[in-house]
Amino acid sequence: MQKINCDTAFIGKQYIWLDSTGSTNDVIKHLLKDSAAVAGTLGDMVQFIEGEPGEGLTVIADHQTDGRGRSGRQWCDENGSNIAMSVLLMPPVDVNSISMVTLMSAMATACAIEKKSGIAVSIKWPNDLIAHDKKLCGILTELVNHDGKNCVIIGIGINVNMTDIPEDLKDRATSMLIESGADSFYDRAAIVEAVLKELERYYSTFVKTADMTALREEYNKRLINMDRAVKVLDPSEPLEGIARGIDESGCLEVETSDGEIHKVYAGEVSVRGMDGYV
Ligand code: BTN
Repeated sequence: MQKINCDTAFIGKQYIWLDSTGSTNDVIKHLLKDSAAVAGTLGDMVQFIEGEPGEGLTVIADHQTDGRGRSGRQWCDENGSNIAMSVLLMPPVDVNSISMVTLMSAMATACAIEKKSGIAVSIKWPNDLIAHDKKLCGILTELVNHDGKNCVIIGIGINVNMTDIPEDLKDRATSMLIESGADSFYDRAAIVEAVLKELERYYSTFVKTADMTALREEYNKRLINMDRAVKVLDPSEPLEGIARGIDESGCLEVETSDGEIHKVYAGEVSVRGMDGYV
């Protein structure tokens, strides 16, 4: 249990830092359903949560017993070494624009990690963060409806101070400590604060246009797939081609050998570099 002090207008102003929970995304879902009952069970873990859970509510845990990744995978952590956090956003945008929240969250988190560590962070479309071809951070975005409003829960898992990468992940996963070679552990609260600050900054840019117009160029600069061969692993339309970056709605544009551009929609497929990184 740690304290954070966010230099933000609303993101992270309401927060809970738990020793252990199933999944931080689920804590937000439960709070949306019945905040009084859930807050009661959390006791003094509730650092600052008054009234109804509002936009910007953040839940952080030292350990998740049932951490979830994308496509039904598990997300494992090393107790107290990494960051598992979820943030509640209520974007005032059409439901069709919501998938882009995941892209802007990846940009914000990459920027925060870079500022705190100096590690060069790339994005593997749509939202894996990569350092030296290994995964440093994963993001699971979930959409829930609360009182008729579209709410997005952004679940962010950052490998921070972990040094023992499980054997089966060794060639695909890394941590900030491993990548930077820093000689002391990172202050996780400071990293959480930096992520929340960047998230607020990128989010305010995103909601102005409700698309990636203002963020596209920067996103494409970080895109590890850019101008590289990719395989789109979609059972209904498997595709191989060269990634040409995202368009203003966040779709990955893939050019096939016949010169045709195919638009790949966020959340529908996963993309893997053909030379085997992550
Ligand atoms: C992925 O790359 O597959 C996404 C991983 C997302 C993990 C985070 S950790 C905080 C939040 N709670 C969860 O159960 N999952 C997300």
